[in-house]
Amino acid sequence: MSDKSVDTSKRRFLVTMASAAGGAATLGVAVPFVMSMMPSARAKAAGAPVEVDLGKIEPGMLLAVEWRGKPVWVVNRTKEMLDLMSRHDDKLTDSASENTSQQPDYCKNPHRSIKPEYLVVVGICTHLGCSPTFRKEVGPADLGADWPGGWFCPCHGSRFDLAARVFNGSPAPTNLVIPPHKYLSDTKVLIGVDQGAAA
Ligand code: FES
Repeated sequence: MSDKSVDTSKRRFLVTMASAAGGAATLGVAVPFVMSMMPSARAKAAGAPVEVDLGKIEPGMLLAVEWRGKPVWVVNRTKEMLDLMSRHDDKLTDSASENTSQQPDYCKNPHRSIKPEYLVVVGICTHLGCSPTFRKEVGPADLGADWPGGWFCPCHGSRFDLAARVFNGSPAPTNLVIPPHKYLSDTKVLIGVDQGAAA
């Protein structure tokens, strides 16, 4: 065997190894890339609709759940709360829910909900994103004798009524957001799916 033939076979061997290594490297990069494109079960769950049992919410109480990483409140409003809500339209920025980005069409009504008693609302202030505090008591000393119940944002003082409509003079520019939701039965509501859409 000449020196030249040894060199040639060595070169072929090295070229073959390099090709194999290149292939493996390509495979090694491609697999994680494909994996990263597949939504994980956790990510799927984070975006999934959330079912709420309304039977667990006492009249006048609020239940907080998480949907898509956001707090969503479900409130069982009493008849007294609904009556109080109807008396201050002149003090609200958008009493008739004209801003269509803040609720689905089926919640563009005075109570901003499908059923008058149950409000479903995203618990994030429309000013700078703090979470307002539920203040359902009427006329407390710190909020004033004319406070009809609602939410007070501790960050910069925005005020919302029990339909989550913002009061005039608040830094928040709009009402709180009503998320898509639908009733599965008289006592079950599904948050994240529009009324009329398949679950
Ligand atoms: S974040 Fe609520 S008032 Fe500013």
